[in-house]
Amino acid sequence: MKYSPRVVISLFCSYMLILHITSSTVSPALALKDCEFPAIFNFGDSNSDTGGLAASLGPPTTPYGETYFHMPVGRFSDGRLIIDFIAQSLGHPYLSAYLDSLGTNFSHGANFATAASTIRLPDHILPAGGFSPFYLDIQYGQFLQLKFRSQLIRHRGGIFASLMPKEDYFSKALYTFDIGQNDLGEGFFGNMTVQEVNASVPDIITGFSTNIKKIYDLGARSFWIHNTGPIGCLPYILVTFPSAQKDEVGCAKAYNEVAQHFNHELKQAIVQLRKDLPLGAFTYVDVYSVKYSLFKEPEKHGFELPLIACCGYGGKYNYGGGGCGATITVNGSQIFVGSCKNPSARVNWDGIHYTEAAAKFVFDKISTGAYSDPPLPLKEACHRSFK
Ligand SMILES: *[C@@H]1O[C@H](CO)[C@@H](O)[C@H](O)[C@H]1NC(C)=O
Ligand SMILES: *[C@@H]1O[C@H](CO)[C@@H](O)[C@H](O)[C@H]1NC(C)=O
Ligand SMILES: *[C@@H]1O[C@H](CO)[C@@H](O)[C@H](O)[C@H]1NC(C)=O
Ligand SMILES: *[C@@H]1O[C@H](CO)[C@@H](O)[C@H](O)[C@H]1NC(C)=O
Repeated sequence: MKYSPRVVISLFCSYMLILHITSSTVSPALALKDCEFPAIFNFGDSNSDTGGLAASLGPPTTPYGETYFHMPVGRFSDGRLIIDFIAQSLGHPYLSAYLDSLGTNFSHGANFATAASTIRLPDHILPAGGFSPFYLDIQYGQFLQLKFRSQLIRHRGGIFASLMPKEDYFSKALYTFDIGQNDLGEGFFGNMTVQEVNASVPDIITGFSTNIKKIYDLGARSFWIHNTGPIGCLPYILVTFPSAQKDEVGCAKAYNEVAQHFNHELKQAIVQLRKDLPLGAFTYVDVYSVKYSLFKEPEKHGFELPLIACCGYGGKYNYGGGGCGATITVNGSQIFVGSCKNPSARVNWDGIHYTEAAAKFVFDKISTGAYSDPPLPLKEACHRSFK
């Protein structure tokens, strides 16, 4: 691929130009300008849900949210999520969930993610059991509504107008994605073998690409796409499949291999999207490797007991005997399932989700571009990939 026109440095600033010429060590990446991302639109599951499932189907209870917000705030964590750190670093408030009818402000973006969301239509949906009804196709449909109805509301004026994104924000915004973990989970927890789940990956990825194309067709240009994490390191897998073979750090090997296969296919799909959608800037972000480093070398990064849920009850992984925030009866007495002593040194919050400390660690690593393809930092993710 050639240098794209959008990767050209602004020549208006002669100082920068001189700096560029005199310093031969400056790499092209360093010469790129920061992007203007006036808004963020996020799509995903609980890894980035800032209140969607809570508003629509019921909120998590204490001790969720205890670390940072000091109360449950619709996040499946003790505190902030990676998407919160992304919003903060771009100078924006935390994203309002699209589904939240109370006190939302979409002036700098919206969050369509809900916990338990999948890419493909799930077989069983909540509240009866199963997965979120707001799978990726629905999240796209909600984005479509926001895009058009927000402008009608702005034109109408009045108190709601200022809560809507400006029209040009839709093309300038950063579009973030973190979804796919539950498509694998649905297979594992259903009656599929690991090999069958693995074989379903191409179809899952097709569902992802289809939605990316539809979002691009509505004018989106900058895409920041997280791959899926090491699902085999999470207590909900380790406890459900106790006989799974473990790797050297104690994660369920085959389950992580399916995640890696998903990530390989996702990366290939993004290569194809760059060809099909030439005006788009697509950043593939290897969240898997950063999360896995927390299981591999926890002490090096200031963490301990990465495989064990901080908030939970039962067994070797402190999971499965009663959910975080539940009150359970053990030996005839009632026990509240609360959090561990030091969540800031823990990786896993409730057996499925990461702690705020882990989210902050992941954000600090991925925002530099060191885990991205192309290797551009978050603030430069509007620039198209170049070689
Ligand atoms: C909505 O958010 C923007 C950005 O933070 C802020 O400037 C504005 O005051 C907010 N509007 C209301 C009504 O809170
Ligand atoms: C798995 O198969 C059993 C027996 O055929 C069935 O009862 C059960 O509902 C299936 N579970 C799922 C999640 O499809
Ligand atoms: C998943 O499928 C890919 C492609 O067929 C294969 O290379 C890989 O070994 C499979 N992994 C597992 C865990 O079955
Ligand atoms: C419940 O009783 C069992 C058997 O006596 C004992 O091993 C266990 O520690 C008890 N659990 C609690 C929470 O007291």
